[in-house]
Formats: sequence, C-alpha cells, structure tokens
Amino acid sequence: MEKVRIGILGMGTVASGLVNIMSMNRDIIHSRTGKILEIDKVLVKNLHKNRDVDLDQSKFTTDANEIINNENVDIVVELMGGIEPAFEYVRDALLNKKHVVTANKALIATHGEELEGIAVENGVRLMYEASVGGGIPIINTMTNNLSANDFTEISGIVNGTTNYILTQMTERGIELDEAVKEAQEMGFAEADPSSDIEGDDAAYKIAILSYIGFGQRIGLNEVPKEGITHISREDIKYADELGYVIKLIASSQKRENEIELRVHPTFIPKTHPLATVKNEYNAVMLRGNAVGEVMLYGKGAGAMPTGSAVLGDIIAIAKGISSEAKEAIQPLTKRYQVVNKGYSQYYIRMDVVDKPGVLGYISNIFGKNNISLASVVQRYKHDLVAPLVFITHEVERKNINEALQEVRTYGNVLKIASIITVEKSL
Ligand code: NDP
Ligand code: HSE
Repeated sequence: MEKVRIGILGMGTVASGLVNIMSMNRDIIHSRTGKILEIDKVLVKNLHKNRDVDLDQSKFTTDANEIINNENVDIVVELMGGIEPAFEYVRDALLNKKHVVTANKALIATHGEELEGIAVENGVRLMYEASVGGGIPIINTMTNNLSANDFTEISGIVNGTTNYILTQMTERGIELDEAVKEAQEMGFAEADPSSDIEGDDAAYKIAILSYIGFGQRIGLNEVPKEGITHISREDIKYADELGYVIKLIASSQKRENEIELRVHPTFIPKTHPLATVKNEYNAVMLRGNAVGEVMLYGKGAGAMPTGSAVLGDIIAIAKGISSEAKEAIQPLTKRYQVVNKGYSQYYIRMDVVDKPGVLGYISNIFGKNNISLASVVQRYKHDLVAPLVFITHEVERKNINEALQEVRTYGNVLKIASIITVEKSL
C-alpha cells in the first residue's frame, strides 16, 4: 500500500490528539484512503519531555530541517502555534512543494494571503480546518457544501477557552483567574491565554471566516475587539436576573457595500440557541441567501476534537481530492468597505449617588443622543450609592459613546462600570 509520510512541527495538546486518533482509527483511515499514513519526524523544543503519545524517541528532533527539507516528507503538519518560527517553516515547506496542514489561526489570519499564494504557485495545498471551531467542520462546509450561497452573516462563539470561563463563572461562581487556570489544564487555552481572554483568538478566527465567506481579506486592525477580562460577577448576576447569559461573540456581517466584523462580550437571551452552548463548545451561525440559517455546533478546543479536524485535512490531501492547487479559495472580485458602527442594543451599568433627579438627568442625556431605553433597573447598594442598569434599544455605538462622555461629567455619577452588547431574541 502507498505510504504518505507526515512531518509534525510540535507535539503538544493538538499534535498528541492527532497521533492518538491516527493510532485509534488506523484501520478506518487505511480503508478510507487506501494509503498508510506514517509519521516520519516530529519537531519539539524539549527532547526530554514526557509525552502522552506512543511514538519512538528516534522520531523526535529539534532540527526543523529534518522535516522541511526532508524529501521523504509529503505533508508538513504545523502544530507549534505563534507566528515565528511557524511562518518561516510553513513558507519553506510550501516552497519545497510539501502540502501543509495547520491549526494556527494567528498564522493564517496574518499571513494567509502570502502562504496561499506560495501554495498555489507550488501546486500544493495549505489546509487549516482546525484553525476555526476546533472539531467543527466550518471551513470545509463553507467552501464546499454551502459554496452555492452568497453569505451575509457569520456569527457565533468561536473561542472555547472564554466560553468555558464564562460558563464556569456563571454556573459555579468562580473567579476569572481560577477558570483560566482550569482551561489551561484542560488544554483549551493558547500558550499565552491572554490571546483568548483579550479576544485576539476570536478576532483571528472571524477574520479567517470572513475571508472564506466574503472573499475579502480583513486586516486584524479592522476588527474591533473586546475580551472578557472586565466581565464581573456583578454583570453575570444582572444578566441572569434580566434573562440573559454572557458569551463572547464574534460576528461578521455584510450589508450592501459594507462589511462589519466585531468581537465582544454579549448578553444573549436565555431562549437563544447560543445561550445553551457551554464550556469549550463553539457554535457558528451562517446565513446564506439560498440555504437560510445554518448552525454548526461542537467542541471548539481540546486535543481530540482539534486532532480530528487536522486529520480530516491530512486525509483529504492523502486521498488526492484536495491536491489540486486550483481548489484553493479564490478571492471574490467585489470589494466591501469595512465599517465599525456597532449597531446593537446595549447594557450599561453605572454607580450613581442615590438621590432624586439623578435617573431623570441621565435618561435625558440618553434621549438627547437618540438613545431609547428598553428597561432600567435601580438597586440600593450602600452609603447612598445606587447601581443603575440600563438596557437600550438598538443604536450605533457612537451615540452610546457620546452620551456616556456627557454622563461622565455629571457629578452624581460615581462610575460607569460596564457597557456590553445585547443580542435580540430570535
Ligand atoms: P501546545 O503549546 O500544547 O504545543 C506546542 C508544541 O510545539 C509543543 O510540543 C512545543 O514543544 C512545540 N514548539 C513550540 N515552539 C517551538 C519551537 N520554536 N521549536 C520547536 N518546537 C516548538 O500547543 P497546542 O497543541 O495547544 O496548539 C497548537 C496549535 O493549534 C496552535 O496554533 C493553537 O492555536 C492551535 N489550536 C489549538 C487548540 C487547542 O485546543 N489547544 C484548538 C485549535 C487550534 P515542546 O513540547 O518541546 O515544548
Ligand atoms: N484557544 C482556542 C480556544 C483553541 O480556546 O478556542 C481553539 O482554537
């Protein structure tokens, strides 16, 4: 039987999942591909680390050339993470006419255009299904099964770590730091978890999906992002009382000649399908002009789900079904203006001095800025401090910013504690 030789850059969480699935499903893979997938070499930083994989020590190396410049290697699988040296290794592997499979969203979101160009020029494939949504086949679904559609919206939960953290903060009442530690222990978090909790990871992913769906590369500086570090237990409690849960949402919408991408924590109504997506699970909603709404749901992080997506790409290449350069995603010709309007409902929480006229004064400022209020909640706290919670009707973010600028100058406002987007009920 023909052998397909694989070189793996990295042997951490995802690569271990990949190797374990290759061994668990060896017979199925043989019968589906008609080929034997064989791991030739594995690049690591530390040769002496104990690893949860059944691989002979002789396969490990600290020299990337043993993979990238190894004429026996057909497919290079990049599972190191980060931009450098991953970019250099992937570029050189493609230039050496090796197919590349990667789960690295940071790399694809920043250098995808250049790397795809090199892959096409060299007649090889660059595949990155695992870079978005872990085990969910989102990229393949969009490029193949739903390719008849003009997409107008891509949105959902695309970061497993923050979804795990918010779920645990909500259900067990634990603090952010403790939940981050748990997500790291379970292998969901990035090597530097600030990429998850500050929203960068979700920004990479929505930029990649926007390219797949709308055919236009979006610079990461064009994706306004807000992470979850400022989400307090108080906001989670108010969300619950008002009938919501807080989720980190990434969205990309196309309207007329505009595209708008955003990553931000959002109040999701408890009746909304995204409210039931918990822990490391992800869910992405696609809206296509023929198919309507499609929602894909599954584990968005972790060794085995992500390993499954990586191996799916390897198998596609091994079967030869994806070995034609012409199958690379083609940019569409129409260009859209990237905007940042933030048209939405908003939750605004502030601490004010508890005395007559304060609520009326603030409501008046909102009114002057064309902000209509959907609900207001006022609580007594202590020492004459009253927390005030507003939920607005839909409005552009600039109106909120302008109103709050004026609210901040009002002496009876002690603190504007939170501003969070609110999703409509379906
Ligand atoms: P890990 O940190 O667990 O593993 C990284 C591996 O790469 C380690 O084996 C490390 O070696 C090796 N490595 C890193 N830098 C170098 C270097 N300069 N030279 C040689 N080896 C190096 O990462 P993950 O498996 O979690 O993630 C891998 C990729 O997959 C990332 O791009 C991540 O964003 C992506 N991803 C991760 C998911 C997850 O659930 N974890 C899900 C989806 C995508 P050593 O072991 O010796 O230290
Ligand atoms: N750190 C990422 C997450 C891994 O938590 O979603 C999957 O891409």
